[in-house]
Amino acid sequence: MKRPIGFIDSGVGGLTVLKEALKQLPNESMIFLGDSARCPYGTRPKEEIRQYTLEMVQFLLQKNIKMLVIACNTATAAALADARERYWIDAGIPVVEVITPAARQSVIATRNHHVGVIGTKATIQSEAYLRALAAVPGLTVSQQACPAFVDFVEAGVTTGEEIEAVAREYLTPLKEAGVDTLILGCTHYPLLTGVIGRIMGERVTLVTSSEATANVTYNEL
Ligand code: DGL
Repeated sequence: MKRPIGFIDSGVGGLTVLKEALKQLPNESMIFLGDSARCPYGTRPKEEIRQYTLEMVQFLLQKNIKMLVIACNTATAAALADARERYWIDAGIPVVEVITPAARQSVIATRNHHVGVIGTKATIQSEAYLRALAAVPGLTVSQQACPAFVDFVEAGVTTGEEIEAVAREYLTPLKEAGVDTLILGCTHYPLLTGVIGRIMGERVTLVTSSEATANVTYNEL
């Protein structure tokens, strides 16, 4: 049997990455683990996120994965360095993440050189996107944590007045700041593209990690 590519997320969000990977690699075997029992990760301390992430990887290693995709920004921000050292350097299993691919795509997309980033509290506080974009000359980056978004998505609520009101509160400062490109820096957020797009307006390009991460997975294979 073909060894699978393993995907992990704190919940259902990673399926947005898996879906793109299935499109680009239709003949690969893939296995997905979403830790919905302990979701959200984004409000937890870094050490706890790191521990949960490595536990998920351990589980997938028992399924004999040949490559790991951390389809979660929060887990990437907290545990990428450890995961790469333990599994890629020590065990030869390539570890793909979601932050660099999205950051790169935002640089290609922006015209006014002002990029917005939304993510969980842990991702925003980690400043992982600021570091990923730090070397781009003349780029302004505005960040905003959107802690309630993941709960809505996990509850299956992606439309309606309540999510619109919350999204308006989170996104208005970014819109007023003049970003022309917005990184959806959480793999749950593509499921809120409708409401986010409506509030940001059609002149703002929404960037997700899904497609670009699938490209990186393909290249790594
Ligand atoms: N899907 C995760 C991400 O990309 C976060 C969800 C959570 O807070 O657990 O950041």
